[in-house]
Amino acid sequence: MSNTDYNKNVLEHFKNPKNMGEMENPDAEGTVGNPTCGDVMKIMLKIKDNKIEDIKFLTFGCAAAIATSSVLTTLAKGKTLDEAKKLTNKDVADALGDLPKLKFHCSNLAADALQKAIENYGQK
Ligand code: FES
Repeated sequence: MSNTDYNKNVLEHFKNPKNMGEMENPDAEGTVGNPTCGDVMKIMLKIKDNKIEDIKFLTFGCAAAIATSSVLTTLAKGKTLDEAKKLTNKDVADALGDLPKLKFHCSNLAADALQKAIENYGQK
């Protein structure tokens, strides 16, 4: 697939991902694997006063998966847990703009990983 299949926003988030990396002592984390391709995404959260104070991701996946992780972190940061719980894969895909159809499954990881992390926090 050539670069031109990705819109500018996707490429920008891929080249300059926001909030990528490990987090020390996260308050919660969620990891999901994509059954279609085997790629894996991990979301880590710092939570204060019921708000997502900080969020980081690590994604072992394709350009689209990295771009969607990056967008998700920008959507989720600063939100209350209740607001963040309402973030869906569609919100992430919409915020990113069009993804090539073949890559649509890649956008399904990010919100799922976030929801898993929030669940994990609830169980702590
Ligand atoms: S090909 Fe695996 S997430 Fe995109």
